[in-house]
Amino acid sequence: MRSSLHLLLLSLAAGINGQHIFKLSTFKSELKSTLTNVEDGAFLFISSSDDSNYLRNIQIETAGTQFNALDISNRFFSGTSGRKIGLKVLRGLSITTTNNNTISSKLFGQLYVTTAAQAQDPNFQVYDVVARETITPTDNLSKTYVLFNVHNYSVDSSYPYYSCIISNLKQDPNSILVMNTGIPGQRLRNITKFFVNPLDEIAFGHFFTNIEPLSIPLPVFYITGTLGGPTFTMESGSIPATTINTTAVSTSGLIMVNDDEIAQNYTVNFNADPAYDGVCGFMYVSELLKGVEVQSGLYGLKGGFTGFNLDDGLSYAAGEMEGYGRMVMVNATAPNMGFYSYQYYNLRGALLPTPSATPTNPPTNPVTSKIPTITTEKAIIPTTTKSAHFETFSILFVVPVFFQRFF
Ligand SMILES: *[C@@H]1O[C@H](CO)[C@@H](O)[C@H](O)[C@H]1NC(C)=O
Ligand SMILES: *[C@@H]1O[C@H](CO)[C@@H](O)[C@H](O)[C@H]1NC(C)=O
Ligand SMILES: *[C@@H]1O[C@H](CO)[C@@H](O)[C@H](O)[C@H]1NC(C)=O
Ligand SMILES: *[C@@H]1O[C@H](CO)[C@@H](O)[C@H](O)[C@H]1NC(C)=O
Ligand SMILES: *[C@@H]1O[C@H](CO)[C@@H](O)[C@H](O)[C@H]1NC(C)=O
Ligand SMILES: *[C@@H]1O[C@H](CO)[C@@H](O)[C@H](O)[C@H]1NC(C)=O
Ligand SMILES: *[C@@H]1O[C@H](CO)[C@@H](O)[C@H](O)[C@H]1NC(C)=O
Repeated sequence: MRSSLHLLLLSLAAGINGQHIFKLSTFKSELKSTLTNVEDGAFLFISSSDDSNYLRNIQIETAGTQFNALDISNRFFSGTSGRKIGLKVLRGLSITTTNNNTISSKLFGQLYVTTAAQAQDPNFQVYDVVARETITPTDNLSKTYVLFNVHNYSVDSSYPYYSCIISNLKQDPNSILVMNTGIPGQRLRNITKFFVNPLDEIAFGHFFTNIEPLSIPLPVFYITGTLGGPTFTMESGSIPATTINTTAVSTSGLIMVNDDEIAQNYTVNFNADPAYDGVCGFMYVSELLKGVEVQSGLYGLKGGFTGFNLDDGLSYAAGEMEGYGRMVMVNATAPNMGFYSYQYYNLRGALLPTPSATPTNPPTNPVTSKIPTITTEKAIIPTTTKSAHFETFSILFVVPVFFQRFF
């Protein structure tokens, strides 16, 4: 006997504008799922690398016509590119499956329904990140790219489940680029923005001309860009290294850990020249599990160190240290952290004055006036007991947004 399931939307999304995203594992056998708030003319997409036999068992009905999920994920695809063509939804949408619940619960694919306005917008594009592909601006209009990472079976036994690499990212110096988790208009997290260029935070603004390859372990995310949007190359996969050497003297990159990943300790070695001054810093967003903390340290070329304890109550932070950076470390206090994303940067400044002659009496502790804050690691990041420094940070942590500039 068939009963009817009326799917409840995520509370944050309810009634916003009719966009939905669901894992195919949501749909259970012997139940007819009816999606509410679907706008006439919206597009439906299926992004999946699941077994085609199981996809064929999922029926999607709209405008009185039945399609199966395999059909939609394959047929509505444009040629060799990963660009997807939506199935137009008219007069309601319902989904049934003849897969048993054991099979259903193991499906990794995703179903996505846009708004009608997004479906009509040629600058709103949906892709599966599969084969290596480069996106190049064709005009100067603002763009939105919704990128689905299909589950990669070759990484099934380890992590991450869904991941892609975005590289060769370039943009007009007057344009604004933002990368967000989830899909446009539906907040799956409290803070969705995870990578920006320019970085235009409370007290500083930087445009990055070089961006490192970004390893993004998210099932779905989106990139918005003004002035034609960015040029970038996307491909399935991840950068497994925990020690990263940057590729340019001024650069920005990303360390991201998603809910289903084992968090590790990361070290980024900056490609920095000690003859120069500069700044280094970060923007951080998170939804961490209770009781865990991300510990981060910026290490200046001249020995400067600034540490940050980013605990589970903190969803956003930005910090900057004067002095060209040698390295940044981002450490996990537990293997299962929840989600965090850490955009780091290092920017080369002016050439430092060269020392005139070998001083006869060299100072025992040379500190340039540019780097007044030199603290020891222990004072900033206590392992068990909270130090005075930590208490100072805790007060700042009360507000959801905190900002530090160490000069
Ligand atoms: C579910 O379906 C699979 C594939 O058809 C089958 O191998 C399995 O035995 C079924 N499990 C149950 C509990 O019916
Ligand atoms: C965008 O291009 C159009 C024509 O190609 C031009 O008229 C317009 O000024 C451009 N806008 C910007 C912001 O560059
Ligand atoms: C899966 O990931 C591996 C390792 O990152 C990559 O080499 C491979 O191309 C990916 N496969 C697919 C189908 O995306
Ligand atoms: C980074 O650079 C160091 C020093 O040049 C080198 O030993 C190391 O192998 C490099 N690591 C990676 C991941 O490229
Ligand atoms: C996200 O927002 C909700 C609702 O305001 C709140 O209950 C929750 O604690 C927030 N989560 C985090 C990690 O800040
Ligand atoms: C991060 O962990 C490494 C060991 O993996 C340790 O040497 C380093 O001091 C830690 N850094 C910070 C900022 O906690
Ligand atoms: C990772 O960093 C944490 C915190 O700094 C430290 O306690 C832990 O030992 C480090 N793990 C490894 C494998 O180095």
